[in-house]
Amino acid sequence: MKIAFVGKGGSGKTTLSSLFIRHLAAAGAPVVAIDADINQHLGAALGLDEAEAAGLPAMGEHLPLIKDHLRGTNPRIASAATMIKTTPPGGGSRLLRVREDNPVYDACARSVELDAGTVRLMVTGPFTEADLGVACYHSKTGAVELCLNHLVDGRDEYVVVDMTAGSDSFASGMFTRFDITFLVAEPTRKGVSVYRQYKEYARDFGINLKVVGNKVQGPDDLDFLREQVGDDLLTTVGHSDWVRAMEKGRPPRFELLEDANRRALHRLGTAADATYDSRDWDRYTRQMVHFHLKNARSWGNERTGADLAAQVDPGFVLGEAAVAPA
Ligand SMILES: Nc1ncnc2c1ncn2[C@@H]1O[C@H](COP(=O)(O)OP(=O)(O)O)[C@@H](O)[C@H]1O
Ligand SMILES: [Mg+2]
Repeated sequence: MKIAFVGKGGSGKTTLSSLFIRHLAAAGAPVVAIDADINQHLGAALGLDEAEAAGLPAMGEHLPLIKDHLRGTNPRIASAATMIKTTPPGGGSRLLRVREDNPVYDACARSVELDAGTVRLMVTGPFTEADLGVACYHSKTGAVELCLNHLVDGRDEYVVVDMTAGSDSFASGMFTRFDITFLVAEPTRKGVSVYRQYKEYARDFGINLKVVGNKVQGPDDLDFLREQVGDDLLTTVGHSDWVRAMEKGRPPRFELLEDANRRALHRLGTAADATYDSRDWDRYTRQMVHFHLKNARSWGNERTGADLAAQVDPGFVLGEAAVAPA
């Protein structure tokens, strides 16, 4: 399952992503964790110290390697230079699996040991002005989008992306790349307004959007969220002393997380798992083509001097069947 955490800055995206990642790892599930948030804090939230976090390789600095690996021998993609963030896979492309070693993970992922399991962590690297534009040929989230579009994840395998709900992800199609999107909202007008905006973008794309209330303190907070987001409210998380202790650099063992918050994480897991059987790889592929053509027209063709529509392999559908036998 591909899972995104989005929301307003400070709402708790990184905190809840990291708790959910710990929850999955504790259950023994394979996890690829990706930090695509403007403020790169997922490593720290997973317990890395400053030096370790600063030493993580940045996906944004390995775009040529990522592109060259993924295009493989696809004859429709002549070079890494004509591959943009939305270029879809086709015959000859290399696909990624959650549980494997490959040159992309070698270059961009590091293992992070948690109490109860090890996860792979990849980070986009710090953002600059240029990364926040719409076109951004060198876009760092583009590295993530390329990986998601070339990734075939199976049941009980998880990719968790800590992500900014910004214009970049809407222009590129990044926001449509997930089986479920958890929108983290505090019980405030601002928190809820980000939800409304996201819902509006998501409407035409069949996005499975669920709200996770965070820092919810009592019945009044809960009533507010219920009233504002209705059935989209999946669960809520309260203030966590466990999180506070972790922020002080003294993380307790994960099994000591408060019961109510543990139950909330369990609900997230159940909701994510429930998406697997209704997964629609045809639609997933169609949407990546849709956004590729849109990006090709609006900036990609001009930028690369090529007709990027020709990169689309009309017979290709991402999914288990597309994974070439080893
Ligand atoms: N449920 C919680 N309990 C205690 N502290 C929290 C909780 N959720 C978030 N925080 C704190 O709020 C701050 C912002 O959270 P963070 O996850 O970094 O937000 P975002 O990634 O959305 O910008 C952090 O200091 C974090 O530790
Ligand atoms: Mg964050």
